Amino acid sequence: MSDSLKGKTIVIVGAGPGFGRTLALRAAEEGATVVVAARTASRLDEMVDEIRAAGGTAHAATVDATDPESVRGLRETVAQHTDAVHGLVYGAFAVPSMKPLAQTDHEQISRGIDLSVLGALRTTQEFTPLLEACAATADVEQTDAVPASSSVVMMASAVIHHSRERYAGYKIAKTALVALGHSLATELGPRGIRVNTVAPGYIYGDTLRSYFEHLATKYGGTVEDVYAHTAEKMDLRRLPSEREIVDPVMFLLSAAASAVTGQTLTVDCGEFHT
Ligand SMILES: NC(=O)c1ccc[n+]([C@@H]2O[C@H](COP(=O)([O-])OP(=O)(O)OC[C@H]3O[C@@H](n4cnc5c(N)ncnc54)[C@H](OP(=O)(O)O)[C@@H]3O)[C@@H](O)[C@H]2O)c1
Repeated sequence: MSDSLKGKTIVIVGAGPGFGRTLALRAAEEGATVVVAARTASRLDEMVDEIRAAGGTAHAATVDATDPESVRGLRETVAQHTDAVHGLVYGAFAVPSMKPLAQTDHEQISRGIDLSVLGALRTTQEFTPLLEACAATADVEQTDAVPASSSVVMMASAVIHHSRERYAGYKIAKTALVALGHSLATELGPRGIRVNTVAPGYIYGDTLRSYFEHLATKYGGTVEDVYAHTAEKMDLRRLPSEREIVDPVMFLLSAAASAVTGQTLTVDCGEFHT
């Protein structure tokens, strides 16, 4: 274990079995107290058990990010463990419509915006006092100082860089999330809170592999064929692993990114040059 996040609390909202679990384990390895939050208690409990078995500190808290009362309850639960939150990662996601806009009803688009954008906003609003408690004011005499800041990281997607037909609903929500990140960075910067988004291309783990299995069965061929066909468009001819998405998030949470705010970091093995 290293201790770069020792004494710090990281809250992961929308902690799923792939990226969220890998991030939680990694943050705990770095010494953070990790709070994993989503709707499925059993999965959160498994993550907490895994972290504790590895010697880390973690708590589970159920939350529905679309429900303001539930998000308030999450903040109250977290406040029982700490009076300051160093990092908030928002990754809640539900599969969008994947149909052209002409066949997508507005209710589906609204649901995507509610979860991806308003969920991130209401969570950040609710945690702002706890995030602010970590920040320090700049000292103009200290030219080489790194003032303490807290960090919000929101999970967007490289879908913001393309307009493929079936991704319209997803693109609308994730592009609005990037805009939200910009505005929150401006609004919360004076309070010492940094806000950035990460835009993964793909996250290659069990979930994506299962989807590739589905595509291989539907269209013929093997998972390896689907992977190779997909990776063809990447400069590195491969897809980012969960760990390779987690590491840039860890960077944005860390003191190494103390002057980085209002940015979108695309992590896609070189599919888009932004
Ligand atoms: N996987 C990829 O290839 C990929 C590519 C680009 C971007 N991304 C982005 O990266 C992030 C993580 O992706 P992922 O594949 O790890 O996603 P994931 O496995 O679906 O995990 C996200 C979690 O969000 C939780 N969630 C859904 N609705 C929620 C709600 N109302 N309140 C609270 N939690 C909720 C779900 O858990 P519960 O059902 O238990 O609530 C789910 O496990 C997402 O924002 C996604 O858009 C992923």
